[in-house]
Amino acid sequence: MNKNSKNINYWNKNLTQTWYSDKDLYSVQWFNELSRKRYEEIFEYKYKFAEFLYHRGEKVLDIGCGPGTDAAEYAKNGAIVSAIDLNEEQIKITKKNFEVRKLEYHEILKASTDNLPFEDESFDLIYCDGVLHHVPEIEKSIDEIYRVLKKDGKALIVLYRKGWKHYFKRIFIHGILKLKIFKYKFDFLKLTSEVSEVNGHTPLTRVLRKKQVLKLFSKFKNIKIERKRLGEFFDYAPYNSYVFPRLIKNVVTFLGLDFFLAEHWAISLNKKKVHKEKLKTIIFEKF
Ligand SMILES: C[S@@+](CC[C@H](N)C(=O)[O-])C[C@H]1O[C@@H](n2cnc3c(N)ncnc32)[C@H](O)[C@@H]1O
Repeated sequence: MNKNSKNINYWNKNLTQTWYSDKDLYSVQWFNELSRKRYEEIFEYKYKFAEFLYHRGEKVLDIGCGPGTDAAEYAKNGAIVSAIDLNEEQIKITKKNFEVRKLEYHEILKASTDNLPFEDESFDLIYCDGVLHHVPEIEKSIDEIYRVLKKDGKALIVLYRKGWKHYFKRIFIHGILKLKIFKYKFDFLKLTSEVSEVNGHTPLTRVLRKKQVLKLFSKFKNIKIERKRLGEFFDYAPYNSYVFPRLIKNVVTFLGLDFFLAEHWAISLNKKKVHKEKLKTIIFEKF
């Protein structure tokens, strides 16, 4: 059994984003609702972070594309889109997404992050959202991203962050209150892997500290790493009652706790160092 087999089985059975909409599965309305929910409710920060509006005419790769919501957004805005996913079913859904919305793509392929089927320096922009923390060969996959990125290219990556929401939701509620910590004999990686996703029980989910992220991406230049997303309870309300979540959101916002709680790292990277002037030069020579 290769290292990715568990991953293939899991993501084949647990198709991502399907819970965003209860419209007719894979209809144009369903895909449209996925996009609206994703960028307006569930992950508001993503539309700006992904820079959808600014890559017209450029070669963009979406790695681990799921149902192709992000890849389609780049296509809507004129990028030349390639997308890959390990899961055959997600590839079919992504193609359907482009077909029903009459969008064009360059290629949509079944492939793994640790062996990208592209020439060196192929892409202007690489987007990889919510994937690498599930991949056993994370270092190799990052090397692959580096390899296929053009010299002056940019990569945008989203990973899970070890913030207080992680400790509160995963460790306190699931680990301690639901006693799962004993089931996993204090193995936090196993606990996180079970409770991190909507459908639960992933083969692997890492939750990372900033130091780990910086180490993993140390080959890249201009690393910008931001804390994003408070998630359910805070950003949106997938509940019958919204009184309690709204109360918590107001308290959190009032106390400015977003900084501690955020559960995503939104990471922006370049292959080449971007020239920046020294502060002294700006103050005394440029202005
Ligand atoms: C949590 S989903 C994220 C999907 C989408 N990027 C999003 O943000 O909603 C993880 C996706 O990564 C894919 N995946 C998991 N391991 C992979 C690998 N080794 N190579 C390529 N794709 C992989 C899964 O099939 C799934 O579609």
